[in-house]
Amino acid sequence: MYYPALFTPVTLGTHALPNRIAMAPMTRLRAPDAMPNAIMAEYYAQRASAGLIVTECIMISDTSAAYMGAPGLYADHFIEAWRQVTDVVHAAGGRIFAQLWHSGRVAHASLMPGGQAPLAPSAIAGVGELHTPLGKQPLSTPRELAIEEVAGLARAFGKAADRARQAGFDGIEIHGAFGYLVDQFLRDGSNRRIDAYGGTARNRARFLLEVVAAAQQAFGANVGVKLSPASRAHGMDDSRTAETFAEVLALLGDADLAYLHMMEPLAGDDQPELLLAAPCAFARRHFGGTLIANGGFSGETAAALVDQGGTDLVSFGQPFIANPDLPARLRAGAALAVPDYSTVYGIPGQPPEQGYTDYPAMA
Ligand SMILES: Cc1cc2nc3c(=O)[nH]c(=O)nc-3n(C[C@H](O)[C@H](O)[C@H](O)COP(=O)(O)O)c2cc1C
Repeated sequence: MYYPALFTPVTLGTHALPNRIAMAPMTRLRAPDAMPNAIMAEYYAQRASAGLIVTECIMISDTSAAYMGAPGLYADHFIEAWRQVTDVVHAAGGRIFAQLWHSGRVAHASLMPGGQAPLAPSAIAGVGELHTPLGKQPLSTPRELAIEEVAGLARAFGKAADRARQAGFDGIEIHGAFGYLVDQFLRDGSNRRIDAYGGTARNRARFLLEVVAAAQQAFGANVGVKLSPASRAHGMDDSRTAETFAEVLALLGDADLAYLHMMEPLAGDDQPELLLAAPCAFARRHFGGTLIANGGFSGETAAALVDQGGTDLVSFGQPFIANPDLPARLRAGAALAVPDYSTVYGIPGQPPEQGYTDYPAMA
């Protein structure tokens, strides 16, 4: 057996996982009208041998308007559609957490209800472009959320979590990474508020903590958080990243999380420009709970980090695209298939199965 450290059981929230291999959340844009469907169910069921599946990011509000084809949980009619996903994953022996998400300023007005400006902690535009009905467009300048709207969005996370529970999910992951709304609150580059949600690191973490508490009302011990403190994605910046995240992790340490999902920098990231070195080691120092390390791992580097006590689990994103049976392949020391990146988000006019559910398991 290869990498035995990855194949010991581990407890996460109230769940006993058979291995330490998680499937990282990956947006695949196969949900027209934001509705999950049978092809998505098949995709997740194919990957049910992961110790834990975390879904692609799921919109908690129709104001989370970044990607056409991303799924939603912002109304009750999504519940039954998601149930077809959770049912087949459970039938295949797996466990699946829903990643709940609001894109905040990573949005374009043409994708927003009524063409309104995107929502953010402060009226500062993010960096990047999005596919819109008008073609590729730079992110719109957002409007600053009123204080009562901030609390309302935290409640919207809670409502989406409750729908996820009704849909049969095993837990929730709060998307606090990559420059989306929660991350926008955490960093002083995007959060210039002078109310209870801005200023000190503790105040900037308030929205995240309210979101976690709202999700815990639905899911108790089965709520995790994903963070990417090193990343400048979508224009993230912070004048004191280490201090900010030391405080955030200390606060999360008191929040009874199922886990913290921490992203290492990726090879394509601009190394000298990283906001924080070695995020997983940082997380081990500042957070006492269960850790999932993510970002650029191979079976070998994942097993080594688990062996050294540097993490409890490792999540794999890209390796799961073309290897639905990734745990079996790692266990056998088999070669990994390489994904076709041209089909990752689907190709207009082509069947959605292409490059999605058509990667075979090992012979
Ligand atoms: C196609 C694709 C879509 C992604 N979508 C999401 C997402 O919806 N939510 C999220 O938190 N991370 C997302 N990520 C980031 C992954 O979860 C993961 O952090 C990243 O791919 C690094 O892990 P890896 O090196 O094992 O791929 C995405 C990555 C890829 C490749």
